[in-house]
Amino acid sequence: MKRYSANRRQFLRQVSTGAISTCALGLLQKGSWFAESALAQGAAPSSAARVYVDTRRTVAPLDRNLFGSFLEHLGRAIYEGIYDPGSKLSDSNGYRKDVLNEIRKLGVPIIRYPGGNFVSGYNWLDGVGPKQNRPRVLDKAWDTLESNQFGTNEFLAWCREAGTLPLMGLNLGTGTAEEAAALVEYCNVDKGTKWSDLRRQHGVADPWKVQHWCLGNEMDGPWQIGHMSATEYGLKAADAARQMRYVDPDLKLIACGSSGVFMPTYLEWDREVLEQCYNYVDGLSLHRYFGNFERDSGGDTAKYLALNVTMERQIEETLAVCDLVRGHKRSPKKLWLSFDEWNVWYRTTGGDDVNGHRKEAPHLLEEVYNLEDALLVGGLLNSLVRNADRVKIACLAQLVNVIAPIMTNADEFFEQTIYYPYSWALQFARGAVLNLLVESSTYEVKGMDPVAHVDVAGTLDHEGGKLSLFILNRDLSKSHDVEVVWRTVLPAKSRRDRF
Ligand code: AHR
Repeated sequence: MKRYSANRRQFLRQVSTGAISTCALGLLQKGSWFAESALAQGAAPSSAARVYVDTRRTVAPLDRNLFGSFLEHLGRAIYEGIYDPGSKLSDSNGYRKDVLNEIRKLGVPIIRYPGGNFVSGYNWLDGVGPKQNRPRVLDKAWDTLESNQFGTNEFLAWCREAGTLPLMGLNLGTGTAEEAAALVEYCNVDKGTKWSDLRRQHGVADPWKVQHWCLGNEMDGPWQIGHMSATEYGLKAADAARQMRYVDPDLKLIACGSSGVFMPTYLEWDREVLEQCYNYVDGLSLHRYFGNFERDSGGDTAKYLALNVTMERQIEETLAVCDLVRGHKRSPKKLWLSFDEWNVWYRTTGGDDVNGHRKEAPHLLEEVYNLEDALLVGGLLNSLVRNADRVKIACLAQLVNVIAPIMTNADEFFEQTIYYPYSWALQFARGAVLNLLVESSTYEVKGMDPVAHVDVAGTLDHEGGKLSLFILNRDLSKSHDVEVVWRTVLPAKSRRDRF
C-alpha cells in the first residue's frame, strides 16, 4: 500500500500540483488487498469510475463513534477474550494485555456492553462487589454459566485502559426502570446516595460518568427475554429514561428500534415505540447481520458485495420513521441512529454455535471470515460513513472471539479478514465526511437498482490536510481504473489509480 500524507500547507501545495494525499482502501485486484497507487498527473484517462471531490461539499463532521464495537457476555468474548486471570498473557487485573494493547492501538472509540441478548436477563448487582461473593448464574439467553467475575466496574476500568468509551446496555427485559436508574446512580453520582455509596464501598471512589446508554436490547424479538409489545416497551423506555435523567441529566439515551429488516414488525415497531418515548430519548437503535446465504444473496458473491446498499436503505427508512414521529410530536429535536449491531454473521447461527450447554466461556458464534466477508464489511463501513449526518454511533458486532475481527487462544491473538477494513476506517477516516459524486459502471442484481462496480466513501481532515478515499471494487472479473477529480479553491486537478 502506498499512502500519501501531508500537513495543511503541503496539502494545499500538493493540490495545486496534482499530488493530493489519498489513501485507497478495500481493494480487489488479483487477490491483493491494496493496489499500488500510481499517480498519473495531468492524464485524462477514460476510466471505468470517476470520483469527484469538492472539498467544500461535506456531509457532516465524522463522529468517531461510528466505528464503535461490542463486547457481550457471550461465548469467549469476555472470559478468555479480554479477561483471563489464569493466563500468562494477563495483567494483575486479569485483563489480557495483548488484546488490551491491540484494542488501544486500533483506537476503538466506543464499546457496547454487556449485551446483546445477555443483558435482558442480567442483574447488574450480581457483577459488582467482592468477587468471592458474586453468584454463578445461568444465563438463559445463551444457556451459559456466568461467573460474574467480570462486571460493571471491571468493564469501565478496562475501557479507561483501552482508551475507549462505554456504551452501557440496560436490562429492560426482566429489569425494571428503577433498577436502570439505580445503575446510573451507581456509575455516575459522586457520593451520599444509596447506590453511589455502594460503588464507593466497592472500592471505586470517583464516578465513572458514563454518558451513553442503550434502553434494552432487541425488545421486538420473540427470542428476547422480556419481549413485549412496542407500546409496552415504548412506555417502559420512557419511564426508564425519565428516572435515569432525574439521576443524571447529561445522558445520551438510545431506544430499541427494529432488530432487522426481516422482522414482520419492521418500522411499525419503531413508530409505535417512538410515539411513546420520542421526547425522552436521543437516538434509536437498529441492527443488521448479513450473510452470503439464502435469505440475503443466495451464495451469489456479486449480490453479496452489493448488500451494503441495503444497509443504506434500512437507514433511510428508519430515519423516515423517526422524522414522521418528530412531525407528530411537533418536536424541534431530530433523533440520530445508533447502528449498534452490524456485521457478517450467518455460519454460526444455530445448534452448538449458539448453545453454551451450561458451560463457562463456551465457544459460541466463532465465525471464520473470508475475503468476500471483508470486502462487504468494507462496503458496510462506506455506507455508515456516507450517512454520518444522522448515524452517530455504530458498533461492529462484536470485537473479540464472537463474530469478531480479533480471536484469541492461550498463546496469542490473531486477526480475521474483517479486521482489516475496520482497522483502516479507524486509522484513516478523519475530519469531515465528503459528499462525493461517483461515476461507475454498474451491474445487475435481481431485486435491486443497478449496482455500481466501484463503491467509494471519503473523508477530509482539514486540520491534518488529509483526504482519505475508501474504495471497494465489487467487480469480480477485473480491476478498475479510478480517476479522482478534485476541486478546491485552487484550480481543479485530477489523478488516476488502478484498483
Ligand atoms: O451479537 C449477537 C446477538 O445478536 C446479540 O446478543 C443480539 O442482540 C443479536 O441478536
